[in-house]
Parts: sequence; C-alpha cells; structure tokens
Amino acid sequence: MDRRKFIRLAGGGAIAAAAIAPIAGCSLSSAYPREAVEAWDGPGAEADPRKRAVAYAITAPNPHNLQPWVVDLREPQVITLYTDPERVLPHTDPFGRQLLIGHGAFLELLVIALAEQGLAADVAVWPQGELGAKLKDWDRRPIARIALQPGAARDPLFAQVLNRHTPKTDFDITRPVSADTLRALLAGAGHHGIQAGGTVDKTGLEPLRDLCWQSAQVELLTPRTVMESVRLTRVGPSEILKHRDGISINTPMIRAVDAVGLFDRKNPPAEGSEAYKTMMARFQGHSRTAMGFVWLAGGNSRRDQVNAGRAYVRLQLTATGLGLGVHPMSQALQEFPEMAPHYARAHQLMLNKPAPKTAADDTVQMFCRLGYTAAPAPATPRRPLLAFVRA
Ligand SMILES: Cc1cc2nc3c(=O)[nH]c(=O)nc-3n(C[C@H](O)[C@H](O)[C@H](O)COP(=O)(O)O)c2cc1C
Repeated sequence: MDRRKFIRLAGGGAIAAAAIAPIAGCSLSSAYPREAVEAWDGPGAEADPRKRAVAYAITAPNPHNLQPWVVDLREPQVITLYTDPERVLPHTDPFGRQLLIGHGAFLELLVIALAEQGLAADVAVWPQGELGAKLKDWDRRPIARIALQPGAARDPLFAQVLNRHTPKTDFDITRPVSADTLRALLAGAGHHGIQAGGTVDKTGLEPLRDLCWQSAQVELLTPRTVMESVRLTRVGPSEILKHRDGISINTPMIRAVDAVGLFDRKNPPAEGSEAYKTMMARFQGHSRTAMGFVWLAGGNSRRDQVNAGRAYVRLQLTATGLGLGVHPMSQALQEFPEMAPHYARAHQLMLNKPAPKTAADDTVQMFCRLGYTAAPAPATPRRPLLAFVRA
C-alpha cells in the first residue's frame, strides 16, 4: 500500500486519498477557499474612503472569529460602530468582555486605515453610555461614533494590517524569544490607559505554561464551554464558504472524517476517543511550546475593554513586523464559575494581585503566548464587506 495515498482515520481505519476528493467535494488542499479569504486582498477598487477603511478593519482579531461588528454609514462623514447581538459567546464570554476587545481591535484598524487615506478620526467611545454588565441586557446602543476630518498622519503599523494572522500551532522550541525582542514588542504596547507586561525568562515561563494547560482542560472538559467551539467549527470548503466565520478546518483528514459522519457536532468529544486525544494534545502542545508570554491589563469598564482591544491589535501588528507570533490563550481569563481558581491564579502570576472584584480593579484583559512558527499562519475567513455595512 502506498502510504501517501491513504489517510488514517481517527478510529484507526484508513480512507484512500483518491476517494476523499469526491467525498469532500473539493481538492485535497488544506487552503481555505479563495473567496472566503478575499478580505486579505484589501479593498481593491472600492472608492468610498469609509468602506475602504472598514474593509481593513474586518480583518481584526476577534474571539472565535465571530466578527460581531456592524457599521452604520448613513450619516455623512461618520462611521457608527455597533455590535451584532446574535454573535455572542454566552458560556466562555458571559459578560461580552472578549467580544468588546474584538470591537476595540476593529476600531483601531479603522482609525489606522482612515489615517492612511489622510482622514483623522474623532472617536467617541460609548457616546450613549456603556452597555450593561450582562449580555442579556445588551441593547442596540453604539460602541463608538467616529467623525471624520481631513488631515491625519499615517501610522507605520498600517503596513502590517494585511500581514497580521494569529498563529495557532506549536512554536519552534529551538528558537527562543530574546529579551530584546520582548522589549521591542512592549516598548509601544501601553495604549489608551492599558499596561503591558511579559516574560521570556525560563523561571517565568513554567508557571504560565502550566496555567495555560490547566485552564484549557477546564474549558475542554466542561461540556457547555467546549460545545461553544464545536458548534462554531466549519469543516470543508462548502461549510467554510457558507459561513466565512468561526473556527475553519479544511484539512483532508478532518474533511474525510466529517464526510463519513464521524465528526460529532452534537456532543463534546468523548473521553478517550481520537477526537478527544487530538484536542487535548493540541492545547497541551500550544502550552508547552510557549517561548514567552505577554499580557495587557487595565481596569474592567466597558471603555477599558474596548481600549484593551485597541492596544492588543497594535501589539499584534508590532509583533508581525518583528516576525514574531502572538497567540491569545484566553481560557484562564474566562469568567465562568469552573474557571475561577485559574482566573485568580492568572491575576496572581501576572499582576501579583487577587482577582478583580469591581470594574475599577486591575484586570488582565489579554494573555498570549509568544514564539516563532515553522510556517506562516494562514489568513482566516471573513464575511463579505457588505455584510457588515448599513448604508
Ligand atoms: C479577545 C480575544 C480572545 C482570543 N482568544 C483566543 C484563544 O483563547 N485561543 C485562540 O486560539 N485564539 C484566540 N483569539 C484569536 C482569534 O481566534 C482570532 O483572532 C480569530 O480566529 C481570527 O483569526 P486571525 O487573528 O488570524 O485573523 C482571541 C482573539 C481575541 C481578540
């Protein structure tokens, strides 16, 4: 048997590679379908400067790639940013904190892309007051109103916007991250009242690697939280093209497993199954190969959360320029009851403080691993530009 022509299945069987192409309905390439990643080509011939800026902003990092942004362009010379109340993660992000970080990242890219066109952005965050503490109380008030005026200095980070990707693979453990690189990364990282910290020191790494792995196990072994990821998983070209969001998987093996009905969308991976072992090994590998960590902290008001997102995308763009991978490991920062011990430990390890109790207390908003990847991280899908725009 020619091993290259067979793909091993989770249960130990094998499928002939030639048989998979028709099953999966496409080629054996793992690349995402072209149209699903067209956002990464930029705005092309689009003439409206606001739509051009939005075309860059939709590449922003955001939790589970939910892309919850809505922009209203009906007022001339203004962009008003809202959140889509349907695109939430009630179990892993019960207060919408991470979602608002994703909005902050979008807002910062919008401002950078406007400046590139010579337009200054006068940003009013929460012009009608902040959203409530609980997702169920969220109404349709705007997150930000951005008024445009001529005259803005270009931002050098614009050059990295379409190169920025989140590396979700093991890092190369033969390539340490130097203290100088960490310093260069952190030098410009404190923005909008957010403070940045980090470590590449061997003694600092171990407890944080352990935190990643211990907290990942809580998310993965809690049925309602792991199901949030399972339900948002898009397998194969047609599902990826249909949604263009969520967690996209296009590897031939998973497509084959899915095509023969072995990818269970209704239940968490059963303990001991191949799917379970693969999932655990992935998170353990990510934790073990972290070659450094960075974090962003500030208060925990809705404004602080948006500001953390603005600071985060700047940090990731800076890292992109340095050729360094920055990968959020958000499990320990998730605010569901089973995670509470790890949430407290995260604050102890990074801020030397107890877990925050009020919005005024210091809160770790982002926690990320650092390192170098063997291959560049792929561009992830985005929905079409017009799906975000009310005009
Ligand atoms: C607030 C926030 C939390 C995130 N948490 C995680 C995480 O825990 N694990 C992970 O793999 N990616 C995490 N990400 C990265 C997103 O999954 C990623 O940005 C998204 O899938 C889009 O991919 P891209 O950044 O490569 O464009 C997070 C991003 C944000 C903004």
